[in-house]
Amino acid sequence: MEKLIINDGGRLSGTVRAGGAKNSVLKLMAAALMAGGPCVIHNVPDISDVHSMVEVLSYMGLPVTFDRGTLDIAPADDIRCEVPYHLVQRMRASVEVLGPLIARYRRARVAMPGGCNIGTRQIDMHLKGLNQLGARLGVSHGFVEAEAEGLTGAHIHLDFASMGATENLLMAGVLAEGRTVIENAAKEPEVTDLVDFLTGMGARISGGGTSTLVIDGVDSLSGVEHTVIGDRIEAGTFLLAGAITRGEVEVTGFNPGHLEIVIDKMGEAGCRLDVGEDRISVSVPHGVSGIELSTLPYPGFPTDLQPQMLVLLCTAGGTSFVTENLFENRFMVVDEINRLGADIKTKNHHAIVKGVPSLSGAPVSAPDLRAGAALVLAGLIAEGTTEVYQVQFIDRGYERFEEKLNSLGAHVRRTTV
Ligand code: UD1
Repeated sequence: MEKLIINDGGRLSGTVRAGGAKNSVLKLMAAALMAGGPCVIHNVPDISDVHSMVEVLSYMGLPVTFDRGTLDIAPADDIRCEVPYHLVQRMRASVEVLGPLIARYRRARVAMPGGCNIGTRQIDMHLKGLNQLGARLGVSHGFVEAEAEGLTGAHIHLDFASMGATENLLMAGVLAEGRTVIENAAKEPEVTDLVDFLTGMGARISGGGTSTLVIDGVDSLSGVEHTVIGDRIEAGTFLLAGAITRGEVEVTGFNPGHLEIVIDKMGEAGCRLDVGEDRISVSVPHGVSGIELSTLPYPGFPTDLQPQMLVLLCTAGGTSFVTENLFENRFMVVDEINRLGADIKTKNHHAIVKGVPSLSGAPVSAPDLRAGAALVLAGLIAEGTTEVYQVQFIDRGYERFEEKLNSLGAHVRRTTV
């Protein structure tokens, strides 16, 4: 068990590079299950979720090596088509192997994901879509068990633009016979990265980045070499760290087009953002003011940056109204931020944030990954010392988080509890 100890350190300044996108690479690794040749993936972040996914693939029998940002995944003719409970429980994204397993090996046995700290996360749309493609599915003893003689293309309309369901069905569709159309598909850049990866393997997909994906099934897929897109959520976290400390921070290594609404909302709150081709710099010339904000699927404001934005609004002049539309437990972090002296009230999925002049250090506990990052950002401006417990959540998605913050002038260190 480890904790991060943060001492208030004034304004952050300097340049930091975002790593590869967590929410992309995990799906690319699942897609590699369908490759007939080796897959080489570059710009892979060294985070615990990637190590968990390496464990999932290794458990199935795929030879995987991960060295200095590059994953090498060798193909295997026969594998164990199963993901046990302890691996799914550690990382819910492991359910993304369902589509690839059924498509290529025609069978799968994957533990049902349980509850999750940010709220209930069903997989009903994944299962319904796979069924429409011809898989027979059942849930028995806590496992989804699936088999198929072969998948056949289908017209699938998602009730909600779920990222996970879109990706699972996209991967299943590429090896199905005939045409699959996914309507109301998720448009997140990470879905588009998966489309590019699959296309590199020989899949035939059009409509990436739009709400209609059209997939013409092929008989087999080859290996591919691919570089993961930059992590827009990590980039946004560092931009918000700069703004929260009223510093001047430049973030590189990602596509600013993926953060358009975040740039707009930070601008509305008084931040100045200079946008380049693969970089954004932030400064706060005249203070931060309160705004209204609602999370939505891409291109809406990302739920994964909502807790960090909440911290910025804590010390704004005026009141902000924040609505969380994706995950009901995202506001679990509010009690922890209030322990640092913030004034946030929540009702259902709405939060009212009254700006306060300053925060004060205290011990707090990270309820989940993005909330953990937000608490560290709050610690950067809280007077005195803040201790953030449950660091393992932060390590799921941020590579060398404290090291990168310290390179900008922060005072964060890690110790055992
Ligand atoms: C992904 C991201 C996560 C991000 C989220 C929303 C990964 C590994 N995780 O999660 O960081 O916060 O997108 O942008 O990429 N839902 C259903 N039934 C389903 C599927 C989803 O009801 O079959 C609901 C969920 O409960 C949730 C909402 O849809 O309320 C969004 O979920 P989804 O887009 O699927 O998120 P994930 O892919 O799990």
